[in-house]
Amino acid sequence: MQRTTSIHGRWSHRWVFILAALGSSVGLGNIWKFPYITGENGGGTFVLIYLLCVVLIGLPLMMAEVLIGRRGRLSPVNAIALCARETSVSPRWQLLGWLGMLTGFLIFSFYSVVAAWILHYIPAMAKGVLAGAGIQQTSRYFEALLVSPERLILGHSAFVGVVMTVLALGVRRGLDRAVRIMMPALFFLLLLLLIYAANTGYFKHALVYLFHFDLEKVTPQSVLVAMGHAFFTLSLGMGAIMMYSAYMGRRDSIGRSVLWIGLLDTLIALMIGLAIFPIVFASQLDPASGPGLVFITLPVAFAQMPAGQVLGFVFFILVGLTALTSAISLMEPVTAWTVERFKVMRWQAALIWGVLAWLLGLAVLVSFETMSSLRFFSRNLFDWLNYFTSNLFLPLGGLGLAIFVGWKLSRRVTESELHLQQTWLYLAWYFAIRYLVPAALGIIFVANLYNII
Ligand code: PFF
Ligand code: NA
Repeated sequence: MQRTTSIHGRWSHRWVFILAALGSSVGLGNIWKFPYITGENGGGTFVLIYLLCVVLIGLPLMMAEVLIGRRGRLSPVNAIALCARETSVSPRWQLLGWLGMLTGFLIFSFYSVVAAWILHYIPAMAKGVLAGAGIQQTSRYFEALLVSPERLILGHSAFVGVVMTVLALGVRRGLDRAVRIMMPALFFLLLLLLIYAANTGYFKHALVYLFHFDLEKVTPQSVLVAMGHAFFTLSLGMGAIMMYSAYMGRRDSIGRSVLWIGLLDTLIALMIGLAIFPIVFASQLDPASGPGLVFITLPVAFAQMPAGQVLGFVFFILVGLTALTSAISLMEPVTAWTVERFKVMRWQAALIWGVLAWLLGLAVLVSFETMSSLRFFSRNLFDWLNYFTSNLFLPLGGLGLAIFVGWKLSRRVTESELHLQQTWLYLAWYFAIRYLVPAALGIIFVANLYNII
């Protein structure tokens, strides 16, 4: 008999699982990566390739994570072990759970630093500190902030504190409530920005940038980029979605939930592009990717436009919310695992991990200042953490999970847990998880390894 509830609790509604998974997946990737790579890689053509990657690689892998999580009803390490035992496979596959927890913890430590930047910009925007600034001023402003850890410690501490408080409160009183408040708020703020952007007079430019069909810009490289992003944007490969699935209802449809998550994540990414680019173009700026877009380019636009103060304020709250809901999912696996393994209270587990993550985050903060001379291969601690986790650990974890579910688990287990209405759907999923997903993630992993320096 399968357990109907996890010892950690359960979502209050089918939709809360979707909102929580969406909270994890909508993050900095949707804001500073997707719109930009779309514009760079052929617009509409790229969106189509990306959608194909979501359907063929992202969703099948997400289904694999969800089925393990819901069947095991425990943190990834123990859920994997449980599923392995059920099929008499070596429990050593739980190593994937360990890798996932490590990845989540490491990603969290630099997410918190980005959050500290965001928390610094929210009041700065409201006060209009950068009013009238050009790109030189905003660059200098951001660079000065990077090397002043003392101005960021408070934000970093506050962010870790909020995330750990939500985790300490548990599934129902903490996570469930947090996503039910934050996700609608996030969506509302995004709508506000979108309405403003639609009235800048540059909405059409953004539409063209995102949706024009430019076959010449589509290269084998852009297919790789699309595959990698489809996988990263859905928070796959480290057990975050697996963990959230442990709190899912036994009868909820895995296929339908996963479809909603993929659809809404893409929709939000496109909406963000349509909100940001008109603002960028209206100020005659070039779109950028990465932190530069959020902390240098957009502040110029906000500094120069009517109502820019309010707009910038709203924008940074939005970015902060996406970081917060992703961060919660990054730390839930280690927290739940600690409760399972050491039989401690949730707040104790959250406190221990909070302190550890705070310390590592502090090292990252300081690395911008003192370790800038220690940059090996011109990357600092922040860049290295980002590089190893996003480019190597996540694809490796995803590859391992696909092999485990596609080749090791018995079909009886996967078929009964997925419970798809049509046999052909199951067979399509089975083909994807056995061949397509491992091939894609293997290629991504090797390609990233090769580019390492
Ligand atoms: N999916 C997030 C994004 O697109 O920004 C990144 C991420 C968050 C990856 C949480 C993994 C994770 F567990
Ligand atoms: Na995302």
